[in-house]
Amino acid sequence: MNEDRAAIKQELYEDTLDVLESMIGDEPDLIAVLSTVVAELHHHLPHFHWTGFYRVVSPGVLKVGPYQGGHGCLSIPFERGVCGKAAREAQTQLVPDVHALPYHIACSSSTRSEIVVPVILDGRVVAVLDVDSNEPNAFDETDQLMLEILCGRIAAKFGT
Ligand code: SME
Repeated sequence: MNEDRAAIKQELYEDTLDVLESMIGDEPDLIAVLSTVVAELHHHLPHFHWTGFYRVVSPGVLKVGPYQGGHGCLSIPFERGVCGKAAREAQTQLVPDVHALPYHIACSSSTRSEIVVPVILDGRVVAVLDVDSNEPNAFDETDQLMLEILCGRIAAKFGT
């Protein structure tokens, strides 16, 4: 990515995180917060084509929502997919080419790259933020850093 595009992306993230802080800063309801995060990200970042959370609803099981984009797989066990790996290892997964990853679960045939960031609350993964792009290699260290900051803020709002 050239320097101009990198700077534009960074600025978009900073603006979006600022807007989000003003919108959800005082909001105590988790679903209201997650829905607003997804909507703002999805409509401000042009390389985001599917944006959503998978929440840990029982041990080892992720369920979709809230999200924006075409329909996503409803349920993902921790043993499967990029989302499962992020949840299992509590680590961000950056996937430049989903076709090169045998364990990737394809919810849409147009997806070319993906990033999945865990939301870690009091040391436990409670959700993952999954973003798919129709562009190959759409996500980089800026996406990782800014989405990790955002997921850290969400966790801090609801942590003890
Ligand atoms: N690609 C994900 C599945 C979720 S959809 O992309 C919305 C995965 O491999 O876990």
